[in-house]
Formats: sequence, C-alpha cells, structure tokens
Amino acid sequence: MPKKRVGILISGRGSNMQALVKAMATTGFPAEPVVVVSNRSEAEGLAWAKERGLPTVAIDHRAYANRMAFEARLHQALLDHHVELICNAGFMRMLTGGFVERWKDRQLNIHPSLLPSFPGLDTHRRVLEQGVLITGCTVHFIRTEMDSGPIVAQAAVAVMPGDTEHSLAARVLSAEHKLYPLALRLVASGQVRVENETAIFAGNLHEPMPMLVPAVNSRA
Ligand code: GRF
Repeated sequence: MPKKRVGILISGRGSNMQALVKAMATTGFPAEPVVVVSNRSEAEGLAWAKERGLPTVAIDHRAYANRMAFEARLHQALLDHHVELICNAGFMRMLTGGFVERWKDRQLNIHPSLLPSFPGLDTHRRVLEQGVLITGCTVHFIRTEMDSGPIVAQAAVAVMPGDTEHSLAARVLSAEHKLYPLALRLVASGQVRVENETAIFAGNLHEPMPMLVPAVNSRA
C-alpha cells in the first residue's frame, strides 16, 4: 500500500511534529511527511523541518484579509504537495467550517487533555485547579467546534502531588509524543474509520490495564 502523504500544521515549537516526522522515518510506517506549514515564519519547528530537508511553507495569517483568504492559501499549499492527511500539531489558528469540511476525516489534532474534558487553552492550570487526578492527551479528527471530533486515541497521565503547570505539561507532552505517532499509524493504515461521528478501530487490541490514581497528598 502506498504511504499516505501527510501535511503537518504548526505554529511554534513543533515537538509533536518532530515526533511524527521521526516515527514516519521508521521502517514500515504507513505515512510520509510531505510538507510542514506554519502560520508563523519564525516558528522553531519550521527551522527544524527545514534542517531535515522537509519542504516547508510559512503562511502569515496577518497578511490575509480574513480567515477564509488565509485558509484558501493554506488549502492550496496542501494541494500543491498532494497532501492526503493533515496533522495539526500545536497549530494555533481556529479553522472555519469550510476548511474543516473539505478535510473532514482527513485532519487530526492533538490536545493536551482527556477530551471532552478541558478543551481550549490553559488546560493544565484548569486541571490542577479542579483537583483532577488523571489527565492526559487526545488525538481526534477535527470538527468545527474547538477541540471536538471523533476520538482516535487517548493517553492517561497521572497528576502528581506537587505538580505545577510546567511539570504536568512536560509529563503530558511526553505522552503526546508517543500517542500522536500511534494514532497517525492507525489512521494512515486505514484501521480507523468514522461512523456516526465516532472513530472505530478495526484491529485487535489487548485489554489495557486500568490506571488507578488515589488522591494521595495535597499539592504544593
Ligand atoms: C501540545 O501540547 C499540543 O497538545 C497542543 O499544543 C502543544 C504544542 O506543542 N495542541 P509542540 O509545538 O508540538 O511542541
């Protein structure tokens, strides 16, 4: 089966993009990175992708009159590189219904919480404020509403006593770097399909262990 052509959208650091690119370089991975697009030309991730010899495109959203004009350019860049599947990886622009619909079930996003809990920004601060004991990250197909859409995979991460936003973000991020390649593999290989707005995995999974976290200590 030919590899799925993946376009990665970033806005900043791009550590998830790096995890995806590295995974796609492994033998037998069913997808290949064909372009990295950023809405910020100074994004650190863009420099990394360039150094790796990946095609990169910077499209500054501020240069466009409105979201639709920006998205038309973005769509064209993806078509120019014959992209079949988009991975949003820390891409900080809301997309309009028109763009989302064009790439329906062909665009993934990663969010640093167990959706549908804690969509939006400042996730880890809100998780800590609520005293949640298990958080994590989610890879999902994109829909118009922010951080919503059929869930492909989730990783659970324990909140530890004394955690700060920073320490929790770092623990979740290292789970993200494992989860996103796994989710991409499942989607690119055609093992996941969307039915009635739910992602269905057609392969075999052994039963995972439950993750139990007691409320041990008060936090700092
Ligand atoms: C990640 O936490 C991702 O879940 C969120 O934004 C962050 C991006 O980090 N959407 P990076 O640019 O991939 O390092």
